Amino acid sequence: MNEEFISIAAPLLEHPMVARLSQYEHHRDKTRLEHVIEVAWLSFCWGKRLSLDSRAIVRGALLHDLFFYDWLHEGPRLHGFRHHNIALQNARKVTALSPKEVDIIKKHMWPLTLIPPRYPESLIVCLVDTYCSIRDYLNIKGELAHSS
Ligand SMILES: [Fe+2]
Ligand SMILES: [Fe+2]
Repeated sequence: MNEEFISIAAPLLEHPMVARLSQYEHHRDKTRLEHVIEVAWLSFCWGKRLSLDSRAIVRGALLHDLFFYDWLHEGPRLHGFRHHNIALQNARKVTALSPKEVDIIKKHMWPLTLIPPRYPESLIVCLVDTYCSIRDYLNIKGELAHSS
């Protein structure tokens, strides 16, 4: 990972609320902390190629799933439609957010959140998050098929 990514990410990763994400499994065999770092890194790489706002991308991506429950077994009903607002509330306790960072967190589940992303940075994080989630799911399927 490059120096710019680390310099943006480090202050957030050192925050106890963000560090706590390591205690939650997000997709099988992957903690929520690993997931948000992966989404932040891949989004950062795409953002660089497209000359977008790297700082907003990394910070928004690191905070996009900042919730503290096992979403498969507990937490609010309709988690998919609601957790972006929970993450946003929690993210505001960690740091002051720019409008772009707010939009990245709020819209990362689009099109479930009907209002589309307002900035290209939000769209990148949304697409990368979807890609990572589908890939994790397909990996699980691959493992299951392999082991059966
Ligand atoms: Fe999410
Ligand atoms: Fe996510």
